[in-house]
Parts: sequence; structure tokens; C-alpha cells
Amino acid sequence: MDDNKFLNDKVALITGAGSGFGREMAIAFASKGANLVLNDINLESIEETSDIILKSYNIEMLLSKTDISDFNQVKEMKKIVFEKFDNVFILVNNAGVRLGTFSLVTKEEDYDRVMDVNVKGAWNVTKAFYRKMSKQNFMPIAGKIINIASCAGTQCGANPYVGVYSASKAALISFTKLWALELGSSNITVNVICPGLFITPMYKNNPEFIREFMKKRNIKLPLDRIGEPKQVANVALFLASPASDYITGHNIILDGGMTTSVNTM
Ligand SMILES: NC(=O)c1ccc[n+]([C@@H]2O[C@H](COP(=O)([O-])OP(=O)(O)OC[C@H]3O[C@@H](n4cnc5c(N)ncnc54)[C@H](O)[C@@H]3O)[C@@H](O)[C@H]2O)c1
Repeated sequence: MDDNKFLNDKVALITGAGSGFGREMAIAFASKGANLVLNDINLESIEETSDIILKSYNIEMLLSKTDISDFNQVKEMKKIVFEKFDNVFILVNNAGVRLGTFSLVTKEEDYDRVMDVNVKGAWNVTKAFYRKMSKQNFMPIAGKIINIASCAGTQCGANPYVGVYSASKAALISFTKLWALELGSSNITVNVICPGLFITPMYKNNPEFIREFMKKRNIKLPLDRIGEPKQVANVALFLASPASDYITGHNIILDGGMTTSVNTM
């Protein structure tokens, strides 16, 4: 990717921007000139993301402590976003939680939280923002939605150790296709990224924890490296760029070959 600031005058809203992939995507979009809405349920974490970005980039930012599982809070976020900015060109549904174990023994409260954040949260934010996005005068694409699901939601990646999480990510992949169909005529693209195993706080920032999980499931990565958040941010940057303007409804799997090898090696 060159240094062209293709996101100048455009706003990117990232949910779960206080940590892991969300923070890395925020930095990547800022590097291309975007102004940012940093959302997270944890205010301190987005203040930290904002401090990191301001050391390198002179952009406008709005910090929104919002629980995306609560539609009333999301509507309030929308109000303050459009008081400050005149567009949301990129919407990244990234916030997620990974709770529970085998699906049928997962506690009801964990089931509810996973579905409420990972599925309903993305639905809430998309539902609140798509109308304004569809009326934006950017050409040829009015806006772009990028969902962050997981290999656990794909056919070969279904992960029984976090069963409800796996099902939640399959639902988000399905919503990606549905929203691509529903929003195509409004010139909004909708795509999903499915990361494999990456070092972020979700995996305790601990490669050993990930290697242990790989052993349990007999996973051998064809590219024998655990992923780094920057790799996800680079794919998000591609989906945010004009290079992807004719791509919608697709799932980009970023897993070092894991889903190709799982259950077959
Ligand atoms: N780390 C991995 O290997 C991996 C692999 C596949 C998919 N993912 C997905 O990528 C996304 C980001 O994961 P990460 O690894 O950066 O995790 P993370 O835990 O580092 O970051 C998730 C962020 O979401 C925020 N959040 C949680 N609930 C929220 C809510 N209700 N409202 C607003 N914000 C909320 C958290 O506070 C946190 O800052 C998640 O959807 C996750 O499921 C991660």
C-alpha cells in the first residue's frame, strides 16, 4: 500500500477500539488520513489508543464509551458522532467477547453476553448507521462496512471449545452476506475478515496459551507463525481502500492456513 491518504476527509468508526485489532486498525486508518470514532465499553482503553495515535497523526477523534449490545446507547453514540462529523465512511464491527466452553454446557449468562455483543452489537451499530452512510456523496462507494468475525465461525474452523462464540461468529458471517445484499443498491460494501490465531489480549497476549489450544485440536499451521494484529489491520486497510471498491459480501480468511489444515492433518 502506498502513502496516498485515501481516507482524507473520511471518518472511520471502530468498535472495540481500545485493544488488540481495534487499536491496530485505528492506527492504520489514521495513517491514511481518516478521522476516527473510537468506541469501546472501556473508556481508559480508548483514551490510550487516542494518545498513541496523536503522537504520530494530526487527526480529529471522538471517543465514545458505549456498550454496543444496548441499542439506546448506540443511538446516543450516533447522535454525538453526527454532531461532530458529517460522515462515517468506514464502519468496523470489531468488538467481541470470547466466553464459555462446549455449547451445551455454557452458562446462560455467557451465552447471552456472547450473542449480545458479537451478533446483536454488530447488528445494533449497523442498524443505527447505515441510513446516513447510504446518503453520503462519496463516489463510487458511499460507505464500507467491515465485520470482524473469526475462523471459529467458518465451516472448517468450528471450535467446540468455545461453542457459542463459534456460533456467534458464524452468524456474523451470515449477516455480512445479508447486509451486502441489502445495502448493495445503496453503494455500501460489506465484507468480513476472519482471523485465525492472533496475539491480542483476547488470547491473554500469550503465545503459549495459543500453542496449548493448537495442541488440543491437533492444529499445525502451514505457515508456522502465530498472527500479529498488524496483519489484520492491513487487510482492513485494503477493504477500506479504493482497491476493494468492487468487492462485497466476501469473507477474507487470515489464518496462516489453519482452516485448510484443521481436521485434515
Ligand atoms: N485475537 C484473536 O486471535 C482473534 C481471532 C479471531 C477473531 N477475533 C475477533 O477480533 C475482534 C477483536 O478481538 P481482539 O483479539 O482484538 O480482542 P480484545 O479483547 O483485545 O478487544 C476487544 C475489545 O472489544 C471491547 N468490547 C467488549 N465488549 C464490548 C461492548 N459490549 N461494547 C463495546 N466494546 C466492547 C473490549 O473492551 C476490547 O477493548 C473480536 O470480535 C474477536 O472475536 C480475535
